[in-house]
Amino acid sequence: MIYSEKAPAKINLTLDALHKREDGYHELEMIMTTIDLADRIDLVETDDGRIHMDSTSGLVPLDERNLAYRAASLLRERFGIRQGVRIFIHKKIPVAAGLAGGSSDAAATLRGLNRMWKLGLTLEELVKLGAELGSDVPYCVQMGTALAKGRGEILRPLPPPPPCWVVLAKPPHGISTADIFRRLDIDRISARPETEKMIEALSRSDYPAVCRLLGNVLEEVTLEMFPEVRRLKERIRRYGADGVLMSGSGPTVFGLVDRESRARRIVNALRGFCRQVFAVRMLGIPEELPARGG
Ligand code: C5P
Repeated sequence: MIYSEKAPAKINLTLDALHKREDGYHELEMIMTTIDLADRIDLVETDDGRIHMDSTSGLVPLDERNLAYRAASLLRERFGIRQGVRIFIHKKIPVAAGLAGGSSDAAATLRGLNRMWKLGLTLEELVKLGAELGSDVPYCVQMGTALAKGRGEILRPLPPPPPCWVVLAKPPHGISTADIFRRLDIDRISARPETEKMIEALSRSDYPAVCRLLGNVLEEVTLEMFPEVRRLKERIRRYGADGVLMSGSGPTVFGLVDRESRARRIVNALRGFCRQVFAVRMLGIPEELPARGG
């Protein structure tokens, strides 16, 4: 029997770094929302007690460097599972892009193995296990629209963004999140997102305000390192997006657009400059999200 799980990507509507902590991580405050661009994880039980991995993408590692592998390994150890598993990742989300693709694959693996191995874990318990794997995994277990604090593991659900389209463009190179955080000088951040105002805008379903309040303190770092990301951002705005931002540590840049026809036009205009371009909808509300239960 195959257990399939959808693993959707996220974008940041805001990302603020408050200070650097003793443990080397940054104290964050960020608003994330799930979009309709997803990998699919297929899980098949094996008797050999091992974890096997395969993927449609040549860009993801197929061993313990992969967060999905580590998710399976964590569950096997923690719950004394004898069985093995074959994990197949149908990759759609660009890799090392700022869209939490790897974290979402790990979260989907936790959800799927919870079903396959009948562990009976609640969403909260899966969120806690996710925090052991990576800072974005707890959010990816929960999905939807949320404020994430701490390292990323303290989650508060928020109202979904107003219905709109998201145009995404991923420059050819990937980015190491650790590298971008290392270069971030907290004392030299020139503009911070207004997180509370963004929460109010979401509560009012105020589309112009959501577009205006988009903000990410990592943008300055990445745009300085990669001028082509800045050019891509300017281009998306020039082609008519209502708000433009880099997601996570980048390099993916997204634009919010109110109508599908306009989103498609922007995608077509971007195709000459960027190979990985998508127009997708937000998946903000629980009814639209993949099943999260155990
Ligand atoms: O937790 P994760 O392994 O996904 O984080 C990747 C890197 O991003 C960390 O090694 C750290 O350098 C940086 N990071 C951070 N503060 C956070 C989350 C991540 O500095 N809250």
